[in-house]
Amino acid sequence: MKIYPSVIGLGYVGLPIFLKLQKNFKTIGFDVDILRIKNLKKGIDTNKEFVKQKLFLTKSSYFTNHYQKLKKSNFFIITVPTPVYKNNLPNLDYLRKSCLLISKVLKKNDLVFFESTVYPGVTEDFCAKILAKNSKLKLNKDFFIGYSPERINPGDKNHSIDKIYKIVSTRNNSAMKIAKKVYGSITKKLILTKNIREAESAKVIENIQRDLNIGLMNEIYKVCHKSNIKFENVIKLASTKWNFLKFNPGLVGGHCLPVDPYYYSTFAKKFGIKTDIILSGRKTNNTMYKFMYNKLIHEIKKFKINSKKTKILLLGLTYKKNVSDFRNSYAIDIYKLLKNKFKNIHVCDPLLKNKKIKNIKILQDFNFKDYDLIINLVNHDIFKSKILKIKKNNQNYIELF
Ligand SMILES: NC(=O)c1ccc[n+]([C@@H]2O[C@H](COP(=O)([O-])OP(=O)(O)OC[C@H]3O[C@@H](n4cnc5c(N)ncnc54)[C@H](O)[C@@H]3O)[C@@H](O)[C@H]2O)c1
Repeated sequence: MKIYPSVIGLGYVGLPIFLKLQKNFKTIGFDVDILRIKNLKKGIDTNKEFVKQKLFLTKSSYFTNHYQKLKKSNFFIITVPTPVYKNNLPNLDYLRKSCLLISKVLKKNDLVFFESTVYPGVTEDFCAKILAKNSKLKLNKDFFIGYSPERINPGDKNHSIDKIYKIVSTRNNSAMKIAKKVYGSITKKLILTKNIREAESAKVIENIQRDLNIGLMNEIYKVCHKSNIKFENVIKLASTKWNFLKFNPGLVGGHCLPVDPYYYSTFAKKFGIKTDIILSGRKTNNTMYKFMYNKLIHEIKKFKINSKKTKILLLGLTYKKNVSDFRNSYAIDIYKLLKNKFKNIHVCDPLLKNKKIKNIKILQDFNFKDYDLIINLVNHDIFKSKILKIKKNNQNYIELF
């Protein structure tokens, strides 16, 4: 069988997969966002993960927003968002819509692999059912499904998808053979398993563990701060024990960690299990920005600040350093709180070029001499040289952590 892959959803996860696949296969990159497709065709990745040269495609692969083109594909990789609703319940609507769309072009012997982070059972009990019902094809007879969780870490050049282990799961042996060819062209480090629910669980708990560990550090950071004990020194000392795990405190935003604990908790609830530990980490992380805001206000008071006249500049608004993603960014929450208090406040984040955040004017560059106080919220590498100058100049400067 000639493999003709397609990637459905060309965001932080989908685009890198598409770019790797198209080196070995004629590949279709599909997204419902017309502007995203227009930009990608022009060689612009507004997520800033890829420069123009890297968006150069082999002759036969292409980007499209026309789903009819997907009729040619026989290996669909779904990488659409999986957020939560306001009440923190899983929002599977993007998955539902992408399955409805794929069921219009699904043929006999096609394979559909999901990469979005979900709770156990979503691939088989939710996605596969929509595909089967709407395509009128039979699962495991006419078409096959699989799950391959994505571990990509935007902004991290050391752990690119070709260097890390990738779990690939499908119950069907011949589907696994084909999946091995497709995913094996991305990384040689494949972990194969037949159990899709285990693969789904593995991904979601990886993120939960990280969220929880940072939550623990955040809580200890708060206690240290209030009790006037230097957190950094405490961690340095504790790290000398062989089994102490070192995590940094921080504002844990983004599309994954603030969401995934709720996915797993929803799943656990079905079995009558309350996930108090998992959710307590999230509770701490959800409110950490308030603590950091109050700490900031305390530090700002040390400078002679006139809330109406003093010119303040904030650096960085994304959810973490060196990424352009601002989903669930707590830096934005801190900005909003500060804005209520200080009249003359500007914000600069060059990584947000071409992105719009409602009611916030974002500067791409700044002259530090124009400001009385500079607050570094998200320490992007791009600020490094200017921060050195700010410090050399003895300018009023605060770093969030
Ligand atoms: N961003 C990360 O660091 C990361 C890492 C690992 C796993 N994940 C998971 O991967 C999934 C995707 O995350 P992301 O960060 O790439 O999201 P994203 O928002 O960057 O990209 C998703 C893309 O899917 C498109 N899309 C939405 N509905 C569609 C549809 N019906 N058909 C086709 N395209 C559609 C959107 O327009 C968007 O371009 C999520 O489940 C996330 O939890 C994300």
